[in-house]
Amino acid sequence: MASTAAIIGSTGLVGNFILLTTLSLDAFKTVYTISRRAPKPESPKLAATVEADTGKWSSNLSSIAPPPSVVFSALGTTRAAAGGIANQWKIDHEVNIELAEAARAAGVETFVFVSSGGTRGFGTGSLPYSKMKVGVEDSIKTLAFDQAIILRPGMILGHREVPHQGGPLLTGLVRSLSRFGQGWQDKFGQEAEVIGRAAVHAATLAAEGKAPSKYWILEQADIVRLGRDEWKA
Ligand SMILES: *[C@@H]1O[C@H](CO)[C@@H](O)[C@H](O)[C@H]1NC(C)=O
Repeated sequence: MASTAAIIGSTGLVGNFILLTTLSLDAFKTVYTISRRAPKPESPKLAATVEADTGKWSSNLSSIAPPPSVVFSALGTTRAAAGGIANQWKIDHEVNIELAEAARAAGVETFVFVSSGGTRGFGTGSLPYSKMKVGVEDSIKTLAFDQAIILRPGMILGHREVPHQGGPLLTGLVRSLSRFGQGWQDKFGQEAEVIGRAAVHAATLAAEGKAPSKYWILEQADIVRLGRDEWKA
């Protein structure tokens, strides 16, 4: 089965691993990206659209012909990077919803969204953040794709180009949990690489008709299973 993928948020921590993983698999013959700056990996399979205005991304997605079989969105920013909560809302909520709507209208079969599960357990500042993610999840559900896949990772572990505020400290804390056994760390956070692989693995299973439901939610344990334990490179 050869399919095409489009990735939004490919320059982010998880998105970069989705990009690397799809580029490495023969199952994907063309991989499109839409981003503000050029993605780092290079490949003859990669078709990158660099567009600074996120408001145009849905139109850039619609113009991919034929439409990609699967769209991955790992698009998300931080309040600090976006320059305030309103701007963060615009990107995390509005742009993601616009992209999902454009994908559905174009006839994309599978939409994969990297949401968040860890926010429920982590502090008070995460409340608007959870709302943003939940709002996107609900919209994707309403759009009724042939196949929707929602990933709800915990804390995302990995090296960011621009570190989150307090991020390195929390990351260190969650990483150190692995000293008590990998299972402890798995409950709170997952490596970005594992999340990226889980997203691609789930999409591949869905293409083989092996998804458990049309609206498939991957919680942290599912992410660890698909992205690490059952991952065959
Ligand atoms: C993205 O779409 C907009 C609106 O259709 C268009 O003006 C722009 O040229 C596109 N960007 C790229 C890089 O193709």
